[in-house]
Amino acid sequence: MPSHFENNEPVLELDVLDAIENAATLLQTKPYTVALAGAGISKESGIPTFRGNDGLWTKNGEPPLDQYQRFIDDPLDWWHTRLVNSKGAFAQTLDNAAPNKGHTALAELEKLGILRHLITQNIDDLHRRAGHLSLTEIHGNRLWMRCIECGDRLPLDEFTYDPTLLPPRCTIGDCNGIIKSDTVMFGEPIPRAALAKSQVESAKAEVFMAIGTSALVYPAAAYPLEAIQNNKPLIEINPEVTQLSEYATIVVRAPSGTALPLIVERIRELNLVIQ
Ligand code: APR
Repeated sequence: MPSHFENNEPVLELDVLDAIENAATLLQTKPYTVALAGAGISKESGIPTFRGNDGLWTKNGEPPLDQYQRFIDDPLDWWHTRLVNSKGAFAQTLDNAAPNKGHTALAELEKLGILRHLITQNIDDLHRRAGHLSLTEIHGNRLWMRCIECGDRLPLDEFTYDPTLLPPRCTIGDCNGIIKSDTVMFGEPIPRAALAKSQVESAKAEVFMAIGTSALVYPAAAYPLEAIQNNKPLIEINPEVTQLSEYATIVVRAPSGTALPLIVERIRELNLVIQ
């Protein structure tokens, strides 16, 4: 029950604190938690979300859905454009971003043995930089490259190619597939390995967390929904209502950079109590 009122309204943060307490208690008691992260977790790193008031797609409209088909039709054009174009504003924002307290706390949940796998829709590399080891970047990573045939991935800073021999080809065995950015383009199938890992881990979840995602884009949005259908408790961390909210066991209606550190702090306190 709220402990104090203002203008006859319960103070919102008490609801949030109750939700944080309940989330910490639930996470503490279940052996296997899987999370889906979206653009919202990177908002506090200065990276805009896609939807919502000041979202990228809200302001500029969604990119064309045939992005990948155009790449397949003319990979040389894509590579030439990549080589000659200077970085756009969004790429520079990503270059300047660093993991925020939400990323760090989520990586801490993995270190505590509570978060067993993170599926992220973000391509910004911030979860890797925060220290996650059990991670699926389902929409790829802007700082990695990938063969579109065999799916082999490698970090951009380990990728070498001859700019006179474009498009670069895969050198794994006799693959010879075309290499592109690991970032999944609109219209591009999600790489098989990422899909398989996400499905296996989501099926093992005892608790599912949806953090900073509007849960509108599939197949990523299917994982929290499947958890709900399998009667697994869902914890949603999002300052806004989403299509998941009404099904969530616990809704922490707050920014992830606020909520996640408080959840981790409370779990540590509970751990001390149990020991
Ligand atoms: N903390 C947590 N959540 C936040 C915060 C915050 N500080 N700020 C905003 N949010 C929430 C918004 O309320 C929204 O629900 O983050 C969510 C962001 O939703 P989207 O912009 O739709 O991002 P996402 O769910 O990751 O989109 C999925 O769509 O366009 C594609 O490939 C793109 O990976 C992206 C996918």
